[in-house]
Amino acid sequence: MVEDTGETILQMVVEKNVSLQPLNSFGIAAKALQLARVASEADLQAVLADAQWRSVPKFVLGGGSNIVLTGDVRPLVLKVEIMGCRLVSETARQWVVEAGAGENWHALVEWTLAQGLPGLENLALIPGSVGASPVQNIGAYGVELQDRFESLDAIDLETGQSFTLNAAQCAFGYRDSVFKHLPAAPGMGLAGKALITRVRFALPKSWKPVLGYADLERRMAQAGVTDRRQVTAQQVFDWVCEVRRAKLPDPAVLGNAGSFFKNPTVSPDQCADIIAREPKVVHYPMADGSIKLAAGWLIEACGWKGKSVGHAAVYDKQALVLVNRGGRANPCTGGEVMTLAKAIQTSVYERFGIRLEPEPVVV
Ligand code: EPU
Repeated sequence: MVEDTGETILQMVVEKNVSLQPLNSFGIAAKALQLARVASEADLQAVLADAQWRSVPKFVLGGGSNIVLTGDVRPLVLKVEIMGCRLVSETARQWVVEAGAGENWHALVEWTLAQGLPGLENLALIPGSVGASPVQNIGAYGVELQDRFESLDAIDLETGQSFTLNAAQCAFGYRDSVFKHLPAAPGMGLAGKALITRVRFALPKSWKPVLGYADLERRMAQAGVTDRRQVTAQQVFDWVCEVRRAKLPDPAVLGNAGSFFKNPTVSPDQCADIIAREPKVVHYPMADGSIKLAAGWLIEACGWKGKSVGHAAVYDKQALVLVNRGGRANPCTGGEVMTLAKAIQTSVYERFGIRLEPEPVVV
């Protein structure tokens, strides 16, 4: 479709029957019945201005690293390809960096470090795109996206209006934000309602390394570093990459969607009850008085490491990660992944009385 806006000619092409296998990190075989690539705000405006596409259901696809496809996708898939990383402002306290939603997350982390702008290094190697990072408030090794977030731009998929949200408006929680909630009341939830176009990060100039995680402390000791004031952002980046490569499967080699379940929180009483029965349960006290349990430990304790349903399996080095053992030629199905996930949830519930909540979006 070509539309003359009076100023520019907007070209919008909707592709049919596009394979989504290379576009989801599990490597599940499914098709988008129709897919539009969104490389700019204008591309999306063109879709929304088109009578044929304006009101059809839409599905926003970022890096595809947090989804389980259970069949072909019928809504119009909007594949976000808005690129660009730049330093937008600098004050005495911080740098603000902006990235297009289609940028690869890890590439952004590398780019900031190459510019001498530390702060994102603990989040190295997290699969996925910049636009998806605020949706689930990605986090690792003591840093969450919300700690470095400044604001984001998005477009309302119904009205085409652009808007900007600050951190409070994003309502970040543990692997959670306003973008994961259905609109129960006006302005309450934005799931399926908006497409994130650009994200800005505030990187404080008073940078200090965030260490403290046992895995990072071990790498630091191995590197012979004793004075943590001497640790550089590049070192933290390298250690995080080493730890992740040792523990987590590379989606390019073994399809997966990162942690499949959130780490559950329980009350101190519930935790004491579990410890009485399972003294070794891995648990961390939280600032709000609740206790976080390691879901990977609970799943491993139920004997799931290495188990499979069809070609979907529990990763043998980290039970929190489900993997596609069939590769690209013989991939697992979304149904197999979900059957395995449900069986895990049932056995963890029966043994510990805890309901595990999946992290990825099931499509
Ligand atoms: N554990 C086991 N068995 C397992 C897996 C873990 O006993 O099979 C125990 C470990 O021994 C450790 C504890 O569980 O004591 C925690 O494990 P780990 O440090 O690997 O972290 P996690 O809680 O499993 C979370 C995030 C990861 C993030 C790491 C590091 C969630 C759901 N996952 O995993 O994020 O990289 O911490 O900060 O919060 C992701 O979200 O996709 C992700 C990979």
